[in-house]
Amino acid sequence: MSEEKFLDGKVALITGAGSGFGREMALSFASKGADLVLNDINLEGLEETRDMILKSEKSDVLLVKADISKIDEVKEMRKKAFIHFNNLYILVNNAGVRGVGKRASSFSLSSKESEYDRIMDVNLKGAWNMTRVFSKKMKNQSYRPIAGKIINITSCAGTDCGSNPLIGLYSVSKAGLIMFTKIWALELGASHITVNAICPGIFFTPIYESREFIKEWMKLRNVSLPIDRIGETTDVADVALFLTSPAADYITGQNIIIDGGMTISINKL
Ligand SMILES: NC(=O)c1ccc[n+]([C@@H]2O[C@H](COP(=O)([O-])OP(=O)(O)OC[C@H]3O[C@@H](n4cnc5c(N)ncnc54)[C@H](O)[C@@H]3O)[C@@H](O)[C@H]2O)c1
Repeated sequence: MSEEKFLDGKVALITGAGSGFGREMALSFASKGADLVLNDINLEGLEETRDMILKSEKSDVLLVKADISKIDEVKEMRKKAFIHFNNLYILVNNAGVRGVGKRASSFSLSSKESEYDRIMDVNLKGAWNMTRVFSKKMKNQSYRPIAGKIINITSCAGTDCGSNPLIGLYSVSKAGLIMFTKIWALELGASHITVNAICPGIFFTPIYESREFIKEWMKLRNVSLPIDRIGETTDVADVALFLTSPAADYITGQNIIIDGGMTISINKL
């Protein structure tokens, strides 16, 4: 990636920025000059992310505690964002919750309705809420060739090769988000907005309780990674940064898998 501060003067909003991928993307966008709206339900995590950024960057950082599954809170976030900033070039729909895995009790057909609602409300409806509320501003921006960029964080669990009954509802929510990526690319293309997804495989972030859990889970699913390491959050942040850069201006509607080869290897190595 070039040294140029290609996000200077541009604002990026990242949901779920209080930890994991969201935090890492915030750090990397700031390093390219972006100002930031950081959202999470976890204010303490957001404050930590902001403090990490301000150690080395001069970005203007607005923190907004809000639950993206609730449209009123999303609209309130829009109000706060546009009182503070005059543009939104990047929206990253990153916030997500994992369905508890490992046992048949987490199969979709054995799950409780409350669990269904929780997963769909955050992973799918949350991204829809954010996109329908914030894309309106993006549409009216005069940046060219691209007026704004949307990045969804999906999951290999939502792809054909990664479908996984042990996290059935999560898989379905992420498959939905992969389809939304294509639908929104079609709906927003004429407004000069690109919509792409980053589709991670297995990364150790706070969404998992421990590395042991991940190893056990991989054994259960007979997963061997051709590139034999668990992913790092920086791997995802680097791809996100590429998508925000001018080099990616002609890419839209894509679900970019970043998994060390996991999806091609399940049950094969
Ligand atoms: N870690 C992995 O291996 C992996 C793999 C594939 C996809 N993902 C996806 O990556 C994204 C980020 O996850 P992560 O691994 O960094 O985990 P994480 O738990 O560190 O981050 C998720 C963040 O989302 C926030 N959040 C949850 N519900 C929210 C809501 N209603 N409103 C606003 N914020 C909310 C959480 O507080 C948390 O800070 C998720 O969408 C996840 O499904 C993760």
